[in-house]
Amino acid sequence: MKALLDRREAADAGADAIVSAVPERAEKETAFPRTFAKEDGLTKGLLKAAWDRREIRGKRKEVTSIHRPDGRGRLVLVGLGPRSRYTADTARRAAAEVVRALKGKGVRTAAFRLPTFVQESVTPEAAARAIVDGAFLGGYEFLKYKSTADGGVEELTIALGSELANEETPIQKALDEERTLVESAVWTREIANLPADTASPARLAEEAKALGKELGLKVTVFDETKLAEMHCGGILAVGGGSTSHPPRMIVIEYPGGARRGKTVAVVGKGITFDSGGISIKPAPSMANMKFDKSGAVAVLGILRACTLLKAPPRVIGILACAENVLSGTSYRPGDVVRTYNGKTIEVLNTDAEGRVVLSDALAYAVAQYHPDEMIDLATLTGAQVIALGDDTAALIAPDDRLANGLLAASAATGEPLWRMPLTDFHRELVKSDVGDVRNSTEIPVAGTLTAAAFLENFVGETPWAHLDIAGAAYTTPLTRKYQPAYMNAGATAFGVRVVTRYLLDSARPT
Ligand code: BES
Ligand code: MN
Ligand code: ZN
Repeated sequence: MKALLDRREAADAGADAIVSAVPERAEKETAFPRTFAKEDGLTKGLLKAAWDRREIRGKRKEVTSIHRPDGRGRLVLVGLGPRSRYTADTARRAAAEVVRALKGKGVRTAAFRLPTFVQESVTPEAAARAIVDGAFLGGYEFLKYKSTADGGVEELTIALGSELANEETPIQKALDEERTLVESAVWTREIANLPADTASPARLAEEAKALGKELGLKVTVFDETKLAEMHCGGILAVGGGSTSHPPRMIVIEYPGGARRGKTVAVVGKGITFDSGGISIKPAPSMANMKFDKSGAVAVLGILRACTLLKAPPRVIGILACAENVLSGTSYRPGDVVRTYNGKTIEVLNTDAEGRVVLSDALAYAVAQYHPDEMIDLATLTGAQVIALGDDTAALIAPDDRLANGLLAASAATGEPLWRMPLTDFHRELVKSDVGDVRNSTEIPVAGTLTAAAFLENFVGETPWAHLDIAGAAYTTPLTRKYQPAYMNAGATAFGVRVVTRYLLDSARPT
């Protein structure tokens, strides 16, 4: 999709659709608002007539199309809900709803009338960003395996009009940055949606190399032989069950845009398929486990966006990739594996594999790069979905500064994070009788937090944040019903926007 800024009125952009936002009307609000005089002119009074019949109420998700009598396309009105509850996320949802409603309707170009989206505390820049997000994310569909597709909006125009024409420069800047950010999220979705027969660890390594070549980033791939030399016993144990798709650890390095910027390691869980292994999952729980690589693929998207947007810090992306399947060479409950930093893991459940592959990747990042901060993204626990649902990811970060930075980025991007505690209770639960840590606890409580307590053993003294994205990483036809329209079926690329935002806004070591 293209995204352009136009100083003129929306009607002058010559688009197939002109899009205006309507806040929810009070019952007694009968007079036709003067702010819609421009729209009413285009429809030769049809808009006012629809307003007078109360066809347009401005309720959330309400999308009304009025065809222009002059035959030059249509006017689309999207409801925003109550003014008092209007936020940038409302605009993001509304833009996605519009783009989805216009699928298969012969509309190729849409001009959003920006002033109608500027309400309450939502500034013109924030509104422009939200429209770009919503249109790109809501318009995205995974079409690789479809032989037919409905065409949709291909060109998005943000029209300033007389009200905002003199604010062009900051809005253009916001739009350019947001387009790159959201394109990286869409790019991430396209890889995260690939099924496990295609998106093997080796294929993820190829994607990383292709990205590195395109952007001039150094990419290093460690195969199973190299991983053995490096004593990455965690990744090797989990990946050992797959005879067709051996494990890989992938490192991608962005040198940073600031002269003396900090180094941030961003680590992702890349389980290309999680069957559970010997501790096998029941079929319904396995159905969506091609998405268990979402954290790792998000790391690629973050590196892409940080490079294109010249983020200040140096960013080291590490993807811990393996396929967790069942065979004669699978690791077993009872096995004890030695990880990169020398700590041993007592395996009690082969389905708690994410923390096992992450152990090596986190420890490797610390030893090789001495990062000032480390962030990991992982579809780590079913307990996260139980605790917070499918829209909000869990943030576990003992370091307040890092946690607050990520929460600020979460507020700015609309990718919800909720901070959860990490206490000695959780730390006690992951101690092992046989080795240093156990990968599954004796009592089934606080599964998300005991997983975090496990990971903490591999981060040393590094300020660290763990994002458990199990619920938010993908939607299914069932969960999608309850999600904002910009959360399309399949991979969501959750984490790309919030973590990149954090990195863009963070400069020097403190
Ligand atoms: N990949 C799963 C977690 C998951 C569940 C992600 C649902 C997305 C949706 C993870 O590897 C797993 O199986 N975790 C186990 C851990 C348990 C065995 C300690 C879980 O959460 O049940
Ligand atoms: Mn698992
Ligand atoms: Zn998993």
